[in-house]
Amino acid sequence: MVEQASGSYPWWETGVIYQVYPRSFQDSNGDGIGDLNGIRARLPYLKELGISAIWISPIYPSPMVDFGYDVSDYTDIHPMFGTMQDFLDLTEEIHLRRMKVILDFVPNHTSNQHPWFLQSKSSRSNPKRHWYIWSDPKPDGSPPNNWVSFFGGSAWEWDHHTGQYYLHLFAKEQPDLNWRHPDVVMNMLNALRFWLNRGVDGFRVDVIFLMIKDALLRDDTPNPDWTPARPIIESTLHDRTSNQPEVHQIIKKMRVVIDEYDERVMIGEIYLPYKDLITYYGEQFDECHLPFNFGLIQRPFNAEAITSAVNEYEKLLPRGAWPNWVLGNHDQPRIASAKRAGANARLAQMLLLTLRGTPTMYYGDEIGMVNGQIPPDKYQDPQARNEPGIAFSRDNVRTPMQWDNSVHAGFSTVEPWLPVNRDYTRRNVAAQREEANSFFQMVKELLAIRASSVALNHGKYVFVSHGSDDVMAYLRIQGMVKLCIALNFSDEEKSVNLSSVAERARVMLSTEMDRRGETTLERLRLRPHEGVIMQVL
Ligand code: NOJ
Repeated sequence: MVEQASGSYPWWETGVIYQVYPRSFQDSNGDGIGDLNGIRARLPYLKELGISAIWISPIYPSPMVDFGYDVSDYTDIHPMFGTMQDFLDLTEEIHLRRMKVILDFVPNHTSNQHPWFLQSKSSRSNPKRHWYIWSDPKPDGSPPNNWVSFFGGSAWEWDHHTGQYYLHLFAKEQPDLNWRHPDVVMNMLNALRFWLNRGVDGFRVDVIFLMIKDALLRDDTPNPDWTPARPIIESTLHDRTSNQPEVHQIIKKMRVVIDEYDERVMIGEIYLPYKDLITYYGEQFDECHLPFNFGLIQRPFNAEAITSAVNEYEKLLPRGAWPNWVLGNHDQPRIASAKRAGANARLAQMLLLTLRGTPTMYYGDEIGMVNGQIPPDKYQDPQARNEPGIAFSRDNVRTPMQWDNSVHAGFSTVEPWLPVNRDYTRRNVAAQREEANSFFQMVKELLAIRASSVALNHGKYVFVSHGSDDVMAYLRIQGMVKLCIALNFSDEEKSVNLSSVAERARVMLSTEMDRRGETTLERLRLRPHEGVIMQVL
């Protein structure tokens, strides 16, 4: 059965999103930090790879305490990344190449250097005082409640000048905005419009589920399982600081703005259990188009855990809600690293690109980049620096893109802001382009198959049960076309019986890239860590 791709779905349902961490993708001006013109120079590569949309982490003016997630102006470009004209040129070229551009929007907090905060902290009577969340101390002078920061310590910072605490769920240089204040809402919605008017195709909205906190500032419930050896952020259950019912009203307002424009997408960064995550589509599908699904990130990478994540999510998704999957981002250990998928790194890509739902890839994952090994005394990540209990620095997943084996991996002509991973001489784009069956070739092939297959894009997902704990198998079905995917997560050869599906199938792609042609499904043999996509005959 020959498949026809169809153009009747929104682009974010048929496409693949690729996250660029701009500081680390490509430096064009020799300062060791990536920039917009660098991204522009690499657009032919992204087109060749076959992705559809580029999500760029924050590029706004920022003191860079949290590397751009501390915004000091929502409607401009940080000179480190280029100029507004560079951004407009980049957007135009992305569109000319028939790709989309998604910006990061950071509404929960600003930088403490944002003019709004400077005014807010200037006096208790300043008109912008209540644009942020201020509170008196407890009678003993201690913070108003037990809320903790994701970057360590109390979420409250004392301001001597005005004699009150302000709230910051992240670094103290990232004060939380008060989204109950109508002027905050108006100004932030206008910031969205500013970029939509300049042609951006949508936003990934940072920690959208944290934007509203308990109005009475009541304590979060202490976590009974927490011990001081664990990061302090795990010491409470966040029942007053996260996922508050009122947040949905705010998200709906953002969505109204998005819908003022054609075909723009809103993606929400949401770390919540599936039962809560799915409420962020909105009861009338009037909130996020794609509430980011981190199920593959949050569970161990084995057949059992991944199968249950996929099946649970598929079961809970409301009718009409479009799914999505994420394997990596700038906050999480790299998927190809030993502690994540390791030897199953190829399998992980096959999983991501054959599940039902929009896939989001992280830069460098297409060549199997692994975590860097940055020594603790060189950490730049504010989370790792403030929270010694944390075992991992996000710097390790933000190392420069490995383009080739020249000095600095083709990323820059000078020492980059974070060291290039030592394996770059072997693991880089140029080498993998030349090598038959390389990781890069496999991902490219997977993307090509997905792009031309309606079954992989929009087909039904059907789990296939077959009795082996190490192999995950499922079908993607569209009309008469039936694809079967079988993934062997173990380090042993496995023979599985998939005869409930059909007698025979034709292998379209193996993760090893060395196997095609007809096979029996009754005794399908899979080598260690091998995955296959088969067309059922
Ligand atoms: C989530 C972002 O992904 C992370 O990098 C950042 O540190 C926090 N939000 C705060 O903005």
